Amino acid sequence: MEGTCARALEIGVPAVAFTEHLDHIVWTADRETLAESPHLASFADAQGRVTAPPFDVEGYLSAVERCRERFPGLRILSGLEIGEPHLHVKAVAVILRAGRFDRVLGSQHGLPVGETFYEPPMLFEHYGREEALRRYLGAVPAVVAGSDNFAVFAHIDYPVRFWPTDEMFDPMAYEEEFRLALRAIADGGRVLELNSKLPLHPEVVRWWREEGGRAISFGSDAHYPAALAEGFREAVHIAEAHGFRAGRHGHDFWTC
Ligand SMILES: [Fe+2]
Repeated sequence: MEGTCARALEIGVPAVAFTEHLDHIVWTADRETLAESPHLASFADAQGRVTAPPFDVEGYLSAVERCRERFPGLRILSGLEIGEPHLHVKAVAVILRAGRFDRVLGSQHGLPVGETFYEPPMLFEHYGREEALRRYLGAVPAVVAGSDNFAVFAHIDYPVRFWPTDEMFDPMAYEEEFRLALRAIADGGRVLELNSKLPLHPEVVRWWREEGGRAISFGSDAHYPAALAEGFREAVHIAEAHGFRAGRHGHDFWTC
């Protein structure tokens, strides 16, 4: 976290939000994913079911405090990315009551299939990737309706990160599903994240406005310092092209 703050000052980013993952879901990972991440694999059982360790509220918030003391010139927001918030309402409420979280994202990383919970690689295997994406987007309204504990909907295009590299992703083929999901997020009074890990397609930003979306936030999903704000330049251009403008402070949502 200190490395990320130092990086922010180095590249002129005025504010940083540490939206630490809060996951209660037990999900089944594919072999490849586990092989790529020994850290993740350390939380998996023999069947590949991953259980996140309990969230250490005190440890997390004291780490944020430490960063604030060390980097007084940087605006540092505490935060969470709550995975599947609608499925764990009570457990999430306990954490939110235990401390102050400035920026709370809600996200959907996968879908239940029978008794198991799959992320996109396994969903693609199960449904085929087109059907998997349609189902993923189709489930977004339930995430919003089922939890008012988050302000920002994160990476709406999460399954697209797993699209084959030799195949261009065309959002037009999923316009209806995207629009339904975006409308639910807008009607729920939430903010859409422009996650720059995979640049959100400009068309999706246009649909966001047309479906009533009025605010966006920027997230680089940087899990290590060097990735902080990667892709922001392009994301900012896309946001501006669709009429969104910065607020008074660096950490404010952009609105239109
Ligand atoms: Fe995420």
